[in-house]
Amino acid sequence: MGLGTHIWQVDPERPAYDELQPAVQVLRGGGLVAFPTETVYGLGADALNPDAVARIFEAKGRPQDNPLIVHVSSREMAYSLMGNSAERPLLDRLARAFWPGPLTLVVTAAARVPRRVTAGLDTVGLRMPSHPVALALIEQLGRPVAAPSANRSGVPSPTSPEHVWEDLKGRIEGIVAGGDCDVGVESTVLDITVTPPLLLRPGGVTPEALADVLGCPVVIDRHARAPASEKEPIGPVRSPGMKYRHYAPRTPILLVEAGDGHVERLREVVGAHQAEGKRVGLLVTDESALALQLDLPTIRMGPKSRPEAIARDLFRNLRAVDKLKVDVVVAEGIDDAGVGLAVMNRLRRAAEARV
Ligand code: TXA
Ligand code: MG
Repeated sequence: MGLGTHIWQVDPERPAYDELQPAVQVLRGGGLVAFPTETVYGLGADALNPDAVARIFEAKGRPQDNPLIVHVSSREMAYSLMGNSAERPLLDRLARAFWPGPLTLVVTAAARVPRRVTAGLDTVGLRMPSHPVALALIEQLGRPVAAPSANRSGVPSPTSPEHVWEDLKGRIEGIVAGGDCDVGVESTVLDITVTPPLLLRPGGVTPEALADVLGCPVVIDRHARAPASEKEPIGPVRSPGMKYRHYAPRTPILLVEAGDGHVERLREVVGAHQAEGKRVGLLVTDESALALQLDLPTIRMGPKSRPEAIARDLFRNLRAVDKLKVDVVVAEGIDDAGVGLAVMNRLRRAAEARV
């Protein structure tokens, strides 16, 4: 495409009206703008402009059958995109607890939502982000903003303006640069068109927190735990994004799942690959890095006791894997509890194999 991609620096906490206006004008004209959210950077277009939305798929190289999340700045804006008012009470309950924040609610779509956004489904994913820049951008545009993560399809999601630049420079009109993202993994996707609600993608809001508000355990779609695998289809996929291999660096990752004798298993897997003459790198928790005492190229994921910190840096760390210049990276799995489920969903899908 060869567009000149602008970078607009803004104050991430209190973006000024004038700082955001150039980006708002681009969106109004049907252009593409990347912007920070609390989860990851999004690649935004006017959600009600089908031609603008079509350009998102082109810029990302995104499969046409993978629907986009629509971002709103108020609950009224969300209502205006809903096709079944019977879903409002549940949306209200969840929105009161988690909006603005990292929760996407899949609802029946109103007729005005373009089919390009929903990829032909009769549902639409809605989310009110909490990042001040994202909220202000939508508010100033006065229209909902469709936005997938602002990466080229298949690679880790971007959590800094630099990541967006690496992936999309020359392909989009601009990047609103507002620092690093806090949550680091994408939003939780919850389908509320079915009873009980179904968790399609684990993310920033934990299943435990959802269960508290819903008053019952959340049902987790099995694709949310297991990795996508084209070789073994495990039934129909409700969230189209879940069927694609994703988040994968070029260097193959071998994932050692958490469990008993974990550190010794890491050591064995490393040894087995070294015996084949391979250069091995590590992506492990701080505790395991210390316990292993191996002199290998190593990325530390953060402390096991703080899964939020591991989540925040996960995509940055996955992007750094190829810089280790090794033949294979042995990665450590963490506990599925809390935000750990979201971390493990990403790691399992990034991994070539699990042991
Ligand atoms: O945190 C996030 O959710 C970020 C930021 C930018 O908001 N966005 C994001 O978008 O991660 P994306 O496009 O990378 O992922 C959207 C996920 C995909 O797995 C997609 O299949 C699913 O949400 N999704 C969207 N609409 C859906 C629908 N109507 N039904 C089921 N799944 C849907
Ligand atoms: Mg994505």
